[in-house]
Amino acid sequence: MFTTDTLSGKTILVTGGGSGLGLSMARHFARYGANVLICGRTEEKLVAATAAIGKENPAVKTGYYIADVREDEEVGSMISKIYADFGELNGLVNNAAGNFYCPSEDLSPNGFKTVVDIVLHGSFNCTRHFGKKLIDAGLPGAVLNIVTTYTESGSAFVLPSACAKAGVYAMTNSLAFEWATYGIRLNAIAPGPFPTEGAWKRLMPNPQVEQVYKQRQPGGRFGEPEELSHLAVFMMSDMAAYMTGECVTLDGGERLQGGQFNFVAQMMPREQLKAMFGAMRPGKKG
Ligand code: COA
Repeated sequence: MFTTDTLSGKTILVTGGGSGLGLSMARHFARYGANVLICGRTEEKLVAATAAIGKENPAVKTGYYIADVREDEEVGSMISKIYADFGELNGLVNNAAGNFYCPSEDLSPNGFKTVVDIVLHGSFNCTRHFGKKLIDAGLPGAVLNIVTTYTESGSAFVLPSACAKAGVYAMTNSLAFEWATYGIRLNAIAPGPFPTEGAWKRLMPNPQVEQVYKQRQPGGRFGEPEELSHLAVFMMSDMAAYMTGECVTLDGGERLQGGQFNFVAQMMPREQLKAMFGAMRPGKKG
């Protein structure tokens, strides 16, 4: 489906691109022809990630910027520097996030604020600076926001993240309409479970919890970063030129857990289930 030209002519910034899903997306963007820039707070991680992307993809340009997305001025300077270094920026992936488990009654105001600052204010800061430059220059562009499946349902124990991601989802749709006239597209991906070191160390306390969580998945497995990255490549490419204001869920069907009789599917092996249903059939003897 993709070739080394799929993203050629694009320069894409991935926030939080030094590790996890951000790095996976950055690698795939480079593989399919984009110049790829990453930003984050930890220089060590950024240096290693940029070197890895560059080594795998010598034909594209790569770069990193140390910036905390919570700080509007830092973000503004980064975007100006990117223009000075690369002359353009036409793709932005708001991937940087913060999250931790905490019973909401024990959450401090600063704990709530910290996550909302990273996720919601950070995405706004990057999107505004990114969009303003394009609008001033009369150029098109694409933004991809990484939200979550609990944007709509909410989720226990991750209240700040749920609130912030819901805000990012609202921002995606609001600006998709407002900036369509400028040729700037905004879309989102809502990932289900993708085991990355950063997420798992915060959200998966031990192997037992992980096992229970895996058993809840309708396909019996978690997602692979590569699967999410392929979707991101498509959504950032001109193949998706007419797509804006869309949020694509990528969760192996996990969100459908609530279907009334879905629980039966996970109660016993399928052959046993078929035998049980067969025995219930009217007219069935024995
Ligand atoms: N439970 C409850 N409160 C917590 C917490 C936890 N596990 N972790 C942090 N907090 C609170 C702190 O106590 C502090 O509040 P306080 O001043 O009232 O005590 C506030 O959150 C800020 O914490 P701090 O560690 O100073 O913030 P930071 O800016 O250094 O780090 C985090 C931000 C907390 C989001 C950190 O986890 C982080 O950097 N995460 C980035 C990566 C990430 O989370 N990715 C998402 C993977 S799913």
